[in-house]
This record gives sequence, C-alpha cells and structure tokens, in this order.
Amino acid sequence: NDGDLQGYFDAIVAADQKVEPRDWMPEAYRKTLIRQIAQHAHSEIIGMQPEGNWISRAPSLKRKAILLAKVQDEAGHGLYLYAAAETLGISRQELVEMLIEGRQKYSSIFNYPTLSWADVGAIGWLVDGAAIVNQVPLCRCSYGPYARAMIRICKEESFHQRQGYEILYTLSRGTPEQKAMAQDAVDRWWYPSLAMFGPPDSDSTHSEQSMTWKIKRFSNDELRQRFVDMCVQQAGVLDLRIPDPDLRWNAERGAHDYTQPDYGELMQVIKGNGPCNRQRIEHRRRAYEEGAWVRAAAAAHAAKKAVAHV
Ligand code: ACO
Repeated sequence: NDGDLQGYFDAIVAADQKVEPRDWMPEAYRKTLIRQIAQHAHSEIIGMQPEGNWISRAPSLKRKAILLAKVQDEAGHGLYLYAAAETLGISRQELVEMLIEGRQKYSSIFNYPTLSWADVGAIGWLVDGAAIVNQVPLCRCSYGPYARAMIRICKEESFHQRQGYEILYTLSRGTPEQKAMAQDAVDRWWYPSLAMFGPPDSDSTHSEQSMTWKIKRFSNDELRQRFVDMCVQQAGVLDLRIPDPDLRWNAERGAHDYTQPDYGELMQVIKGNGPCNRQRIEHRRRAYEEGAWVRAAAAAHAAKKAVAHV
C-alpha cells in the first residue's frame, strides 16, 4: 500500500541510497526533479549561444578549436540531462516545447551578451566555476540517473573552467588593452554569476523540500559563499580585481563578506526581461523548426531499419 511505498522511499533517501526510475516516488518529488533537470538541460543548450557567438571570431586556430569542442560538450551535457529527465516519464520533445513556449526556465546567466573575446574567458572562469560549485553536490543527489549524469558533466565543466581561466591569465599578462578587456569582462560577469545560485535562502521556494529529499545538498546562499571564497584567491593569481569594494575576509565567520547581487534584476531576467531573453528563445525556436526535417528523416530511417531487422 501507499504507506509502505512512502516508507520505503523515505528509507532509501535516509540511507543515502539512490532512487531509480522503476521505484515508487512521491509525485511532487518526480515533478521537482523534472523541473530542475529540465531547467538544467535547457541551460546547457541555451548556454551554447553566447559562446557560439565567438567561434568564428576566436583569435587563433587553436582558440577556435578549443571553443568549438567546449560548445559541443555543452550540447552533450544537454543530451545526458534530457535523457535523465526522460526516465521520469516525460519526452524530450515535450520539454523542448515547454522551453520554447516559456513554460520552463533556463539559467538567468545566459541572457547576458558576450561583448568581447575576454567574455569567453570570464564565462569559463566565473560561469563554469559557479556551475561546478553548484553541481558537484548534485553528483550525490538522491535520484540515480541525475546523480550519474552529473559525474561526467562535472569533469568536463572543470576542464571548461580552466580554459576560461587560462584565457584570462593570458590576457591579463598581455598588452594594457588586453588587460583592460579582461577586467571589463570580469566586471560585467561577476554579479550575474553570483545570481546564478538563485534567490537568497529566505526567498527560495524549493530549497527546504529539495534538501529534505536530498536533491539539493546545500542551500543557495551556502554555495554562493563557497564560490566567492574560491574566486578570491584565483583573482589574485589572475591579477584581476573582483568588482566589489566591500569584499573582505571575515575571520570570525571564516569566510569573505561580500556584496549581494541585485536580486530584483535576477527576478526580472528570470521573468524574461533580461538583455538577451527574446533573442535566445527566438534562436532556439528557429533551430528547432529548421531541424524538423532532420528529426523526421532520422525517425523514418529508424523505422525502415526496424522493419528490415524483423
Ligand atoms: N536562473 C533562472 N531561474 C532561477 C535561477 C536562475 N539563476 N535561480 C532560481 N531560479 C528560479 C527557480 O527555478 C525557481 O523557479 P520555478 O519555481 O518556476 O522553477 C525560483 O527561481 C525560486 O528558486 P529556488 O526555490 O531557489 O529554486 P531551486 O531550488 O530549483 O534552486 C538552482 C535553483 C540552485 C538553480 C537549482 O535549480 C539547481 O541547482 N539547478 C541545477 C543546476 C542548473 O540548472 N544549472 C544551470 C546553469 S549552469 C550551466 O548550465 C553551465
């Protein structure tokens, strides 16, 4: 009966074991996972756009090859995550349509424009850095297919973070103009990167329940703090300034005090009013429509093969 099933589910979560697709799970747990995994998948796919913008303008053949590989990795992450979401009983097509119709979200960060080559460095260092801090704990998420997908994604993200760091390191030791370009990129990406962790804990609607279910392991503010502490030392090595005059070590807390991002701006961007929201969704819609014949051809080919093998 339902009581036994709930008890079994609770015991699996309490014992830090994995819930698998065939297991009974509360409907709200399934819904929360579909929401979060789909948002995550959409973020990977939409996230290809701001960086894709620089593939044809990368400053050397080597940089171009690296960036191409990185953007392809993001497509792969999207695919693993859509596949993980599909184990919960929803199709990839439904998810993509919900994204295009604005019924599902993707990360706020990808609604900001990439204005210079240094932005590719800042995205790698800060955005992928924030993604790693947020995603490493997800490798221990209670839902098996999501946790397992995150292991490979985190390995690839840490490589992405290093490539961004290396771009900024090179620019920072280049001409004064290159250094200024690197600093300008860090100035623009810092606060949006802090906002990626979501609203403050006091306004986070899902955190408490998601932490009870061990989908989330740490709160938004805990992870944001961890990210700030990590960046301070790295900024020192880069010889770039974090654009926060109030950033300082607090010995009592054993952590840095810092200025919070503008959460009003975050809410506006989430609602669709960021600098690039319309452009990002429009581009995604166009790609989906223009790819319809490829999907139809692949399905027809698979059907033909299936008949041939009978
Ligand atoms: N961008 C867009 N929406 C956001 C963001 C953000 N940065 N932060 C929070 N939200 C939304 C939430 O989705 C939620 O809206 P919903 O109820 O309509 O879904 C609302 O704001 C309230 O936030 P929370 O209650 O704190 O939501 P949640 O518990 O889901 O925590 C978080 C948000 C931390 C982003 C979580 O969903 C998560 O860890 N997701 C997986 C990681 C991820 O998606 N990363 C994508 C960017 S990284 C990358 O792809 C390189």
